[in-house]
Amino acid sequence: MPQSDVLEGAPTAAVHKPLPHDSARLHVQGSANYVDDIREPEGTLHVAIGMADVAAGELKTLDLSAVKAAPGVVAVIAAADVPGKNDIAPVFADEPLLVEREVMFHGQAVFAVVARTRDEARRAARLGKMEIEARPPSVTIADALKTGARVQDDYAFGRGDAKATIAAAPHRLEGQFVIGGQEHFYLEGQASFAIPGEVDEMTVYASSQDPTETQHIVARVLGVPDAFVTVETRRMGGGFGGKESQACTWAAMAAVAAKLTGRPCKVRLDRDDDFALTGKRHDFRADWRVGYDDHGVVAGYDVMLNARCGCSADLSPGVVDRAMFHAGNGYWLPDVAIGTRRLKTNTVSNTAFRGFGGPQGMIAIERVMDAIARERGIDPLDVCKANLLRAGLDRTPYGQAAEDFETQPAMIEELERTSDYRARRARIAAFNATSPYIKRGIALTPVMFGISFTLIPMNQAGALVHVYSDGSIHLNHGGTEMGQGLFTKVAQIVAEEFGVPIHFVRITATNTAKVANASPTAASSGTDLNGMAAKIAAGEIKGRMAAYAAELWGVPTETVEFRDACAVSGNHSMEFSALAKACRHARVQLSHAGHYKTPEIHWDRAKATGRPFYYFAYGAACSEVAIDTLTGEMRVLRADLLHDVGASINPALDIGQVEGGFIQGMGWLTTEELVHDSKGRLTTHAPATYKIPVASDVPPVFNTKLHTRANPTPSIYRSKAVGEPPLMLAISVYSAILDAVHATNPRGHPRLEAPCTPESILNAIASLDGAR
Ligand code: MTE
Ligand code: HPA
Ligand code: MOS
Repeated sequence: MPQSDVLEGAPTAAVHKPLPHDSARLHVQGSANYVDDIREPEGTLHVAIGMADVAAGELKTLDLSAVKAAPGVVAVIAAADVPGKNDIAPVFADEPLLVEREVMFHGQAVFAVVARTRDEARRAARLGKMEIEARPPSVTIADALKTGARVQDDYAFGRGDAKATIAAAPHRLEGQFVIGGQEHFYLEGQASFAIPGEVDEMTVYASSQDPTETQHIVARVLGVPDAFVTVETRRMGGGFGGKESQACTWAAMAAVAAKLTGRPCKVRLDRDDDFALTGKRHDFRADWRVGYDDHGVVAGYDVMLNARCGCSADLSPGVVDRAMFHAGNGYWLPDVAIGTRRLKTNTVSNTAFRGFGGPQGMIAIERVMDAIARERGIDPLDVCKANLLRAGLDRTPYGQAAEDFETQPAMIEELERTSDYRARRARIAAFNATSPYIKRGIALTPVMFGISFTLIPMNQAGALVHVYSDGSIHLNHGGTEMGQGLFTKVAQIVAEEFGVPIHFVRITATNTAKVANASPTAASSGTDLNGMAAKIAAGEIKGRMAAYAAELWGVPTETVEFRDACAVSGNHSMEFSALAKACRHARVQLSHAGHYKTPEIHWDRAKATGRPFYYFAYGAACSEVAIDTLTGEMRVLRADLLHDVGASINPALDIGQVEGGFIQGMGWLTTEELVHDSKGRLTTHAPATYKIPVASDVPPVFNTKLHTRANPTPSIYRSKAVGEPPLMLAISVYSAILDAVHATNPRGHPRLEAPCTPESILNAIASLDGAR
């Protein structure tokens, strides 16, 4: 509870201000609490996972006697011991918590060990003897195309007859583009702590983007009603989509252990196990054909997106649909066919990752636009501009009109100017003409990202606000904090509503018992949804307080305003805290649960029509790179970002999201490589072999600017969602590398696969050697 001296004197008008993250100080001091920091009650036990050592096969026998006899072991859990349903799948019932017969991927959880210490549990987990009748695994996209296995039916949409249009177009190109996956590498790994209560009650502290779904899955594996399970999340040390569905597994594991032992049980995955046991960004292979005119204007685009979904559906239905929604980026594609295959393989089930399939669909068309530019001998930026959505031609391939499509060319032109694109291109050409081995490249690419969950029912949120009689405010909502600053933004919105300094607002942990039936914090919609619900809740309470003050003063309610921590009307004024106290005395209810649902959106998947997105967020980025054509090494020399955040609720946090998203996307497209061996084992399962960007990879010249024109769609304070879209600004890095590769030989179309590791760059250069 704030001290009264803290409540006084601070500035009001909290929205649109660059306030620091509410936990910034705690993060730096190391005093922000994560799941593993919760003080362990007496008797807490630790869980480790016994993992399958083949990728595909049938479990014949399981001998756990040595595990049970190991020092410190209290319980050993196999599939038959799961008290409720042995199923952790979020969409289809296609993934067990523990293997029953069928082994679906290398490392899959076969049993769990519960021991006094984490170390004892981990040592004992290695002693399990399992006989698995192995089958040759299907590991890659090519394998899956041979087996024909799917996690969901193929799905396509489009407009016109793309194939015929392409065949009749003046020019045609086709290609295949391999796009790698990505490990989330949240700094805090998956962690859950379950504490059993009376009768069948279970409280779980989970590092989860989706406490509500975690509650459902814990209840399902325990075989109890949802109401017996409470899930709480104060914060995550990063989620990035990796804790949207897949945090549930570890919460379920901890809860089953707690149920069976009657003691508090914790699961915290070791980094190597986290790599092996949790899904990643989907890797894709895009097979494309395009037809266009002399000026590089597209007439028809036909793309098949092959997505490796892994062993089960998980969130792949939504991820691959979103890849389709972004397969046209912000371009007008007159005739277009977008197909998808949701491939099933014997690899860990791939899942949400910042952009949720959007980046993969988008980079494919950017690759195609570049190919058109090369073939026509036109600057790629001019091909981009010639194809943008425009007046009269403002519909995406799924038929939604982009309301503020004119934002796109305006931003691209601004960035073209501020990044000095044309002059730098000329300088780079001059440099390359005299530099035999080091080649430079530049690219300016656009981003248009749809905001809303594409599953309409998910676009809702709840918030619970209490005003206490000292004027301090308790805020709770269904969104989760993962570093993005959601809690700060929602607190700003509530402070603004009450006209009080932000210190009045006490942000509290997300808890399924306070706000029920929440959606995951995902699809970048955390602030849009929870901010609106909290504003509604605060507004209701404010209305009641205003009515009370109006009656007291004998003035109309509409004249009562809340500002500078006071309620005022004409010459009347009362401190907010005094008014709260008086309201309580007068028996005015000072609590409210708000609810918000996004209006106007609808989507009919079978007919592929509707308006799936409430609005679009735009961005543009210009990157310059240098490659060493002898070693394949690459550096990003400069990046200029311009990103559309609407009337930003918090420009400081938004800059953090834009820069962080860009760097994370740069890692995806350059150094982060997931390699499986032929047995389906992930061989890049630790920071020694899997390289995320570090401080020295940040471009030495790095200019970030926010585009802050108010959102024409009435979103919360006319801001725009910012969490995911900036990741796709990094496509400019890929395109700049492509530009540098072309400098070795302007003819032909290099096979530049993502990520652009040294091998990929050297292969791309080699692929051009025949083209003269
Ligand atoms: N920023 C940080 N620091 N940590 C994260 O885990 N996740 C991203 C993005 N930014 C993430 C992040 C993803 S995948 C999403 S969907 C959004 O934040 C979710 O939060 P929001 O809806 O509040 O923007
Ligand atoms: N984005 C992120 N997560 C989701 C979505 C989405 O569109 N749909 C379901 N989960
Ligand atoms: Mo973000 S991938 O929608 O969690």
